[in-house]
Amino acid sequence: MCGIVGYVSDSGLEVEDLIWGLKKLEYRGYDSAGIAYNSDHSIKYLKKSGKISEIEKALVEQNILKESFYSGIAHTRWATHGVVSETNSHPHLDCKKEIAVIHNGIIENFQELRNYLEKRGHMFTSQTDSEVIAHLIEDNYKADIFEAVLKSLKELKGTYAIAVIHKDRPDEIVAARKGSPLVISHSKNMGMLASDVTPLLKYSKEMNFLNDGEIAVIFPGNYKIYDLKGNLIDRKSISISWDETLAEKSGYPHFMLKEIFEQPNSLKSVLVGRLVDSEPKVKEIESLEDFVKNRMKKIYVVACGTSYHAGLTTKYFTNKYSDIDFEIEVASEFRYMNPPIDDKTLVLAISQSGETIDTLEGVRKSKEKEAYILTISNVVGSTIPRESDAVLYLNTGPEIGVAATKTYTAQIALLYTLVSQIIYWKNGKSKEIEDILKHLKDMPKVYDEILNKTNGHMMDLVKKYKDFKDMMYIGRRFGYPAALEGALKLKEISYINAIAYQAGELKHGPIALLDETFPVFAIVPSGNLREKMISNIMEVKARGAKVIALTPENDKQTKNICDDFINIPDLPDCLIPLVVAPITQLFAYYIALEKNLDPDKPRNLAKSVTVE
Ligand code: M6R
Repeated sequence: MCGIVGYVSDSGLEVEDLIWGLKKLEYRGYDSAGIAYNSDHSIKYLKKSGKISEIEKALVEQNILKESFYSGIAHTRWATHGVVSETNSHPHLDCKKEIAVIHNGIIENFQELRNYLEKRGHMFTSQTDSEVIAHLIEDNYKADIFEAVLKSLKELKGTYAIAVIHKDRPDEIVAARKGSPLVISHSKNMGMLASDVTPLLKYSKEMNFLNDGEIAVIFPGNYKIYDLKGNLIDRKSISISWDETLAEKSGYPHFMLKEIFEQPNSLKSVLVGRLVDSEPKVKEIESLEDFVKNRMKKIYVVACGTSYHAGLTTKYFTNKYSDIDFEIEVASEFRYMNPPIDDKTLVLAISQSGETIDTLEGVRKSKEKEAYILTISNVVGSTIPRESDAVLYLNTGPEIGVAATKTYTAQIALLYTLVSQIIYWKNGKSKEIEDILKHLKDMPKVYDEILNKTNGHMMDLVKKYKDFKDMMYIGRRFGYPAALEGALKLKEISYINAIAYQAGELKHGPIALLDETFPVFAIVPSGNLREKMISNIMEVKARGAKVIALTPENDKQTKNICDDFINIPDLPDCLIPLVVAPITQLFAYYIALEKNLDPDKPRNLAKSVTVE
């Protein structure tokens, strides 16, 4: 989704610094980019379609990469209103080119505002909703940029995170937020803002996350936050423990591969202090105990994409080990439903980024219904955790690759621990769960083995499958969410039409698709459903489709009937989604490489989906 960044300093920033900040936002997904900065009492700007490197190239050609500036803003655009083009890229300027604005979000009343402003003589150059903001501020400007922005915000409907500079105020950036994330910070000589902390960590670890309806003025070495009535807000910053180097590739060719290989560590980090000697001890939610014991009648998960798959896995887990009522819905549906929740419902909002707009709206709906909201997120201080009753952070460090990998497996590990805690509170301890938690504790070691064994094998395997246009993933029970997630990974970074089904559903329709052009990835753990999976594989083979099976090492029978196989550890079924995940992640990663695609930046996708 669009990314914004801005720096203001009294000690000589260079245009190159803005480009650096912009590159930190690349992972969010974008199709064009631009910068504007205040230099010699004028606003200079440059915009390009395509990659940030296009801007860099132009800056080098014009010999201005090292030019110094006082205040500067930069933007990566992900087109919503208006095609991908240089003119539609941000920053947008007013008629006199004295004000530059960058915007993340959607202005719903832009047409109405545009008609009004055009009648007043403003000349528009783009098709975007965002350009109205620049002209509106110009229209309201009477020698004070803060006042002009404040007045303009009251006329905007929709969502925004904006940053504004004016040629006569090189020492300040005005920023505001409603519905789209914005974080501000300062160091000794600098003030700064961005859509997320990645372009700021190099300068400071102290972050202040703006709330909806707040406007900030950012100066070199300081900032001030106000509400929309102009009242000063005194809010302390939050310390972020993430290290800037965590957001670097550390020698890996892509963030995705780095993040896949970080999983043994991220699984340790998410469980430390929460799973102690195979006992769930999620201290951060001790306050939930009373609610669970005396009130809770239902758990309801709201989430999107991969986070939804982690939630679905948890539904199967809860259902296997307790009689607790557990429902789940994708957030984009939930927000428009009349969900059966009330003040006796525990809503689990799962969102890696903590900013997904559908999940956020789901949380707001749940709040109206007085549910208790517990969020699982990876981003400290993000919006969904701030609007929830309680939060559990994944502690995996930043995930930069657009495809969720380490946060997905951390979500499952944390959710299993959390749900076990809830089941213990409700029903007392259970030997069966204790055994699972023992295995969960060992998962970092298991991951080391899986990753080491599978990585090399995968590079060869993908050569055989890279040219197929379609692929199906099948599994039963816990194998089903694992199949859904495997298919999602493959489709998002390799653009192969990957679909997932419960294996038992094949004969109700999907089997009609299968022939030699449509390979099937089958998840075949040991246990009571193994035989059923083997029958499904036979059905698939009879249609001429190739089968890759994920099976325990000793399952010779399955291996004999399949075209290819990958060994998985022989563990209890609820752990199957965890052991399958690194394998399907690597498969998707190497297929993308074979197809010369950039797995970190899949087309049309954004890391943080902050518009509907
Ligand atoms: O940040 P969230 O967990 O709320 O994001 C939800 C989805 O947008 C996300 O999982 C998406 O499906 C990823 N591209 C998956 O790799």
